This record gives sequence, C-alpha cells and structure tokens, in this order.
Amino acid sequence: MIKKGIILAGGIGTRMSPITKAVNKQLLPIYDKPLIFYPLSVLMLAGIKDILIIVNKGQLNQFRKILPNGKNLGIKISYAEQSYPRGLPDAFLVGKKFIGKENVALILGDNFFYGQSLTKRLQECVKLKSGASVLLHPVKNPSLYGIAKINKKNKILKIIEKPKKYFSNLAITGLYFFDNKVIEYSKNLKPSKRREVEIVDLLNKYRKRKKLSANFISRGGAWLDTGSMEDFYNTSAFVSALENRQGLKIACLEEIAFNNKWINKKNIMEAIKFYGKCNYSQYLSTLIKKDQK
Ligand code: TTP
Repeated sequence: MIKKGIILAGGIGTRMSPITKAVNKQLLPIYDKPLIFYPLSVLMLAGIKDILIIVNKGQLNQFRKILPNGKNLGIKISYAEQSYPRGLPDAFLVGKKFIGKENVALILGDNFFYGQSLTKRLQECVKLKSGASVLLHPVKNPSLYGIAKINKKNKILKIIEKPKKYFSNLAITGLYFFDNKVIEYSKNLKPSKRREVEIVDLLNKYRKRKKLSANFISRGGAWLDTGSMEDFYNTSAFVSALENRQGLKIACLEEIAFNNKWINKKNIMEAIKFYGKCNYSQYLSTLIKKDQK
C-alpha cells in the first residue's frame, strides 16, 4: 500500500512568463482555487495522507500561507526545496529522506485529473507492491506527449517521448506509482541533451525489467496539463462549467477530507473562518448543513 506522495511543484513556468516570474505556477488560479489544490486532491482521493510538496528555492513561505502543515485537512504536509529544475526524477533525490524505505506516488503540480471512476482507479494504483505503474489516457495528438504501447496484460512494451511517427495514442500522464527502487534508479540517471534527468529514462529502467504496468483513466475522465495560458483558460472553463452545472466543487480539499472522515465539522468551521467570506466558504458551509439533515 502506498502511503506517501510527492507533488512536484517547482519549475520555471517559462511558457507562462511574465506571470510566473514572481509567482509559482501552482499558486495561480484554475477557476476558483489555486492549481495546487487539484493534484493535492488527487493524492487525497487515493487515500494518501503523508505528502511532500517540492517547491523552488525561496518559495516556501508563499505555499505555507495557503497549505500550512496539513493538520487542517487531517493529513501531513511537509516541504522541500529543489535548487533548480533538474528534471522530474530529481523528486526522488530531493525527497529521499521523506520516502525512507517505502513506496511512493508522484504527481506533477500542474496536472489536472477528473473522472467518474477516478477514485476507484487511484485506490487500485496505491496497492502497488513492487515495480512501477503509470496512468495512461488517449490523446488526439500523440506527437506532443510521452507515449506508451501496451500488451494485453497492460504491461508497457515501449515508450517514446514526443514520437514523430504514430505507434499508439496512449499518453503517460503526470501521476506515477513507484516501489522504493526508484531512489536508486534515479541516482543513476544521466541528464539528457536538455540537461535534465528524464522521467522516460526512469520508466524505461522498470520497463526493461518487465516491471512497468499501466492503468487507465476511462473515456469519461479528463486529464489536462496546465502548462500554457491557453491551458489555464481551458481548464478553468471546464471546472467552471461542471461546478456551476452540478453545484459540486472539484478539488475542494476540505470536502474530500470530511468525506474520508479525516476532519470534522469543527475543522470545516475553522476553514470557513480562514478563507473568509467567499464562494469557497459558502460551499463549505453547505457541506456541514447537508450533514445535519
Ligand atoms: P514542466 O512543464 O516540464 O516545466 P514548467 O512547469 O517549469 O514549465 P515550462 O516548460 O513552461 O518552463 O514541468 C512539469 C511540472 O513539474 C511543473 O508543475 C513544474 C514541475 N517541475 C519541477 O518541480 N521540477 C523540475 O525539475 C521539473 C522539470 C518540473
């Protein structure tokens, strides 16, 4: 059972400069809440309560203002700084002490997941005992993503980053589950031409040992990464359309914690006080009212 999760929330955010010159991308809004709430909600839905958030040097205080130590959500949040964006597998070196001898999940701070059976899928993924697994999702334009080909048993046969020639339409999303070997494998990675250690190289270490399996976000689900301004607009529109139609929020952290019985009504009331008079607080107050009926 995977009990620990890392959110990689550093990066330069070049594509969104100048906005990201002063503010970390993960603190920018997707509709009515900061981007970081979405990947954090995914880990919480997976039942993961021990979470490390990796941020850029000097940005810790900004994050702590909105996500202090997790107590308010019935979870544990700790922080580590990455000295510069050395690549995704660097998460396992920066987070070495946090991981200890356990298995671990990694989610990229700018990835958005939504879907009917997502929670069920996530709860299957955290059962990983050895090897690694990734979540795949079909995409229209495979040449923009890391793409995987699978066999009938959902083992991954081949991975190519941004393939020029079509061989599959299954993109590797930014949510990964690893056994503890990930630390050792990450140590041995060599930086690529763009001077980063690459997640594809790490995944290939598992694939070569026939230890890399795939899980899927079903067709009714959505996976969006929010790397550009355009993505921010589109994802915000998606969240706004769903939330306003259903009257239910996506990635309301307190709601997930409350449903999981990690926090109680008193905690919700404290959250309302903390956020102040806003739509988010109003939504929180409906949660405790509903519970009283
Ligand atoms: P990227 O999209 O590769 O990078 P970025 O967000 O800095 O954006 P840009 O390409 O426009 O410069 O990163 C994906 C996510 O992982 C993003 O949330 C930032 C994070 N990240 C780190 O925290 N550390 C790293 O070393 C890298 C490469 C990414």
